[in-house]
Amino acid sequence: MKNTFTLVVLISGSGSNLQAIIDAIATGQLEARIQAVISNQADAYGLQRARQAGINTHIIAHQDYPDREAFDQQLAAVIDSYQPDLVVLAGFMRILTPDFVRHYAGKMINIHPSLLPKYKGLHTHKRVLEAGDTEHGLTIHYVTVDLDSGPILTQVRVPVQADDTEQTLAARVLQQEHIAYPRVIQTLARQHQEKQS
Ligand code: GRF
Repeated sequence: MKNTFTLVVLISGSGSNLQAIIDAIATGQLEARIQAVISNQADAYGLQRARQAGINTHIIAHQDYPDREAFDQQLAAVIDSYQPDLVVLAGFMRILTPDFVRHYAGKMINIHPSLLPKYKGLHTHKRVLEAGDTEHGLTIHYVTVDLDSGPILTQVRVPVQADDTEQTLAARVLQQEHIAYPRVIQTLARQHQEKQS
C-alpha cells in the first residue's frame, strides 16, 4: 500500500480552511492525513476543530520566544518531529524567517485572499473595495522568502458586487478558499504518489 500524503497545518485563528481540509479528508475527496495542527495563538478556534477531529495540536506562543529566529526554530522542531510531506499555512498570521522558509522549500504552501501579485499583506478585502476593483479572489502559492510572492499553484476569481462590504466580500472569497485549498492539496498528494510509484 502506498504511503498516505501527510500534512502539518499551521493556524492562528478560526481555522475554517483547516475545517475544509478535515472535511475533504473525511469524505475521501482528499487523500491525505493531518498529523498535527500548530497554532501560535492559544485561543485559536481552529484548535478546537482539530481536537474534535482527533488531531494532535500544539500551541507555540510567539510571545514566549525572544525573537523570530527562536520561535521559528521551535516551530521547525515540532513540524520536523512529524516529517510531513507538506506544511500547510491556513490563516497563519506570522512572518517567517528566511531560514525557516528555505528549510521547507517546495514543501510549504499558503492561501492568500487576493489575486496576487495584487494586494500582498493584510486587509485585502478593504483595499479591493477602496480601489473600486470589480474582481477579487484568492491565490494558493508555494511559500518563498519574499512575502506572498512564491510560485502560484492556483487562483480563483470572485466578482465584487456594488453593495459589498468588507464582510460580504470576505465571506464570498472564503467560500471559494474552502473549495480550492483541499483541491490543490489533493493535486499535490496525487503528484507525490505518482513520484513514489
Ligand atoms: C483566510 O482568508 C486566508 O486566506 C487568510 O487567512 C484567512 C484564514 O481564515 N490567509 P481561516 O482561519 O481558515 O478561517
